[in-house]
Amino acid sequence: MSREKVFVTRELASSALERLDGICELEVWDEFLPPDYDYILRRARGASGLLCLLTDTIDARLMDAAPGLKVISNMAVGYDNIDVAAATARGIPVGNTPGVLTETTADFAFALLMATARRIPEAQQYIRDHKWRTWHPTVLSGQDIFGATLGIVGFGRIGKAMAKRARGFDMKLLVNTSGPDESVLEAGAEPVTLDELLRRSDYVSLHVPLTDRTTHLIGARELSLMKASAILLNTARGGVVDGQALYRALSEGSILAAGLDVTDPEPISLDDPLLTLDNCLIVPHIASASVATRAKMAEMAADNVIAGLRGDPLPTCVNPQVYDKN
Ligand code: GLV
Repeated sequence: MSREKVFVTRELASSALERLDGICELEVWDEFLPPDYDYILRRARGASGLLCLLTDTIDARLMDAAPGLKVISNMAVGYDNIDVAAATARGIPVGNTPGVLTETTADFAFALLMATARRIPEAQQYIRDHKWRTWHPTVLSGQDIFGATLGIVGFGRIGKAMAKRARGFDMKLLVNTSGPDESVLEAGAEPVTLDELLRRSDYVSLHVPLTDRTTHLIGARELSLMKASAILLNTARGGVVDGQALYRALSEGSILAAGLDVTDPEPISLDDPLLTLDNCLIVPHIASASVATRAKMAEMAADNVIAGLRGDPLPTCVNPQVYDKN
């Protein structure tokens, strides 16, 4: 009996691929850059499973070209690259990888906070530019972290993990969430509106998914509410922040600095003016990139594919409504 086909859009941790190889006919795109949309569409055409990354656009057209698709498994917790409503309408379960990357991502968000507050990348550049000639009372002075106020926008797993780290630094916590106030209060934080959070925070850290509601959630008006000494941190999705408004705020000094793990688009265009600013630290979407966590994400994505091929509910499914029909 011929085995079902699964297309994997990038080389993953080998143990995850070996498990898939054992149960299906596996095709893995093994180049460094992602396959283009048309290639994925062609490979999906005869496939029962698709294991994709956040770089891959999986839309209704692609799903229609792949009538045999039984599962779409994204190796990411976010899934804004997939038209989930279209998948649900076609009865295709979509999997993601929540939980395993929470602590790693929050570690990194806190690292961005510390690096921007204490100007670590600028300090390294200072030495490389041969400027370190003496200990100086004011050179490269940054902002304190302990005792400062951290505003967390979005209070899912990663937002809560960020709060846990901030408590260790005696930070005061403000949270804006569409979820219940109880979980905010239990975390020792104060639930507030977004505007109040922006006005009162020394650091603002974004932890919301990218949706129609959160696209450009932080624009010119929101940035103008922030303190001139405040720092914005984005480990969510680039589209949550209006990049042009952020450039204006940073270059005019209406906020102090920004730390961005994510940009819009990705990769950031090399002529994006944000790259010219010393007070904007930008890294290439690596918040979940620890060796151990990326391996766990690959395993989890493989688990979702295996369940989908068997017709079992996916262990982590973002559209469980597909199982409601019977
Ligand atoms: C990374 O950004 C993810 O969504 O897992």
